Amino acid sequence: MPDAKNAFSLPKLPYAENALEPVVSAKTISFHYGKHHQAYVNNLNGMIGGTAYDGMPLEEIVKKAARSDKDKGIFNNAGQIWNHNFYWESMSPKGGEPTGKLKDAIQSSFGGVKEFKDAFQKAAAAQFGSGWAWLVKGGDGKLKITTTANADTPIAHGETPLLTVDVWEHAYYLDYQNRRPDHVKDWLDKLANWSFAEKNLG
Ligand SMILES: [Fe+2]
Repeated sequence: MPDAKNAFSLPKLPYAENALEPVVSAKTISFHYGKHHQAYVNNLNGMIGGTAYDGMPLEEIVKKAARSDKDKGIFNNAGQIWNHNFYWESMSPKGGEPTGKLKDAIQSSFGGVKEFKDAFQKAAAAQFGSGWAWLVKGGDGKLKITTTANADTPIAHGETPLLTVDVWEHAYYLDYQNRRPDHVKDWLDKLANWSFAEKNLG
């Protein structure tokens, strides 16, 4: 297969690799970003050369490949690149709590920030196997919690993602082993990037 004319590359992390400790260690980031995310980028670049996908923006590749059974490999790798790009932005060493119109939207959709966090944690824990938990804005403008398996992503389903946590074991196992619910609780309390979520609310 020819090389991709428009090859993708890893985005720069918005913080230092040790900035999210102790919830996400530098060691986890070095594998998660430097090995796993990089592998999805390399795989996709190796798959799209000479195809109709070469030269398309990433989001378009994800949406197009989602509609084609024979392009499952392209969907998985493009979806994982998109999801990870979004995940790195979903975290901030500053942490904090939702404010402004995001807080209002959470209040009206879930009854309060605590209720939202409890439901999000429960959904993330219940996602069987590898996948993602998301805060999304649905077509009706309401906020919802959703989960996706493996590389699946809300952008393939007409939803607008605001925030995501990766619940593949590679995201937390070195730091929390099998304690996914504890990881997600700490993630929400200490790392969730609420200003990024508010910006995505539009
Ligand atoms: Fe991941």
